Amino acid sequence: MLRWLTAGESHGEALLGIIEGMPSGLYLEADHIDKYLAKRQGGYGRGARMSIERDRVNILSGVRHGMTLGSPIALMIRNLDWKNWKEKMAPFPLSGSDGPADDASISRPRPGHADLPGSLKYNQTDIRNILERSSARGTAATVALGSVAGRMMQELQITAMAHIVSIGGISIKDKIDPWQCEGAVSNSRLYCADAEAEAAMIEEIDRARHDGDTLGGVFEVRIRGLHPGIGSHVQADRRLDGQLAQAVMGIPAVKGVEVGLGFGVASRPGSKVHDPICYDAVSNTYRHIGNNAGGIEGGMSNGEEIVVRAAMKPIPTLMKPLDSVDMMDKSAVSAHAERSDVCAVPAASVVAEAEVCLVIARALLEKHGGDSMAELQENYNAYKKLISGR
Ligand SMILES: Cc1cc2nc3c(=O)[nH]c(=O)nc-3n(C[C@H](O)[C@H](O)[C@H](O)COP(=O)(O)O)c2cc1C
Repeated sequence: MLRWLTAGESHGEALLGIIEGMPSGLYLEADHIDKYLAKRQGGYGRGARMSIERDRVNILSGVRHGMTLGSPIALMIRNLDWKNWKEKMAPFPLSGSDGPADDASISRPRPGHADLPGSLKYNQTDIRNILERSSARGTAATVALGSVAGRMMQELQITAMAHIVSIGGISIKDKIDPWQCEGAVSNSRLYCADAEAEAAMIEEIDRARHDGDTLGGVFEVRIRGLHPGIGSHVQADRRLDGQLAQAVMGIPAVKGVEVGLGFGVASRPGSKVHDPICYDAVSNTYRHIGNNAGGIEGGMSNGEEIVVRAAMKPIPTLMKPLDSVDMMDKSAVSAHAERSDVCAVPAASVVAEAEVCLVIARALLEKHGGDSMAELQENYNAYKKLISGR
């Protein structure tokens, strides 16, 4: 079984990820991971922190001479900003003259953050003890793990991509196919396939920055090349759509997840929602006319492209802070403000691609098994042969 875990604080020494269950014999180099780390750091609208960091992975275990060993793969990304936080985030107790030069503690919770419920739940007087982990800086480790999963999928000719659908209420044109504009998406400052919409989104981000405000938006992850039968209808927690929704909803600030037509299904009759089935005698496969189902029927992949869309709320740290309460004396104050992104929808789309790849890779390994890539390939090809022409 594929499983993974991350650790690390925003201003701690490093971020860590461990993934276990990856087959042996997968070609994997740091470059495969670094490319996605750089993408997560990018996107117009990021804050000053991302200009300090230059995320690079350090592969600590599970890979030898560029090949996975089948043992747990441990990945580390150092925080360059750590040098400024060594004392304030020291794991050992500080006392007397060793105490931090400037106090980094926070008592004014930010609306929309983990600050208030986290400090009550974990019994903390310093909100920093919560925000250091609730910060989305930790998603760098998720992206590193997801890029390992994506590497495995590539070997099976399954490809993933993420792109931006809207920011601050400005949307791309309806008919744009992001696969056709893959080059435009990767060259875009917002990972957006529509240059005209991108220009308007950038203006909107600049306006929000000027006003001390923030913006959210919608992004999409697509998976191409997946055969039918990944996931299962037999138990709720084995449904692929349920697993994808959980993974993407688990990204900080994501407040809605749709598969295919998503919420659009509710207002249309069945004849305008369900995708008719046909048989393609050339490829010996069943196909659907349209893909409102987003590639999933009955909790299983149906052979069409997987389409997962998510809504991200505006960043909750505002430079013109909202009203809050000082938890030290209960007085009415403005919420804490610290350097922050104005819009992180492009970065979140990279995190979502990683989450989706992790879920798909786990489902693939659950279905086909294999301790080595050779075994996985053989099982995978045998299954494809079995269902071909059925
Ligand atoms: C890639 C990414 C970057 C983010 N950057 C910031 C940020 O700079 N400042 C901030 O306040 N929130 C940021 N967030 C959102 C918060 O982490 C999130 O809103 C917070 O943890 C509360 O969780 P919730 O919104 O899911 O309730 C970011 C989220 C993502 C996915």
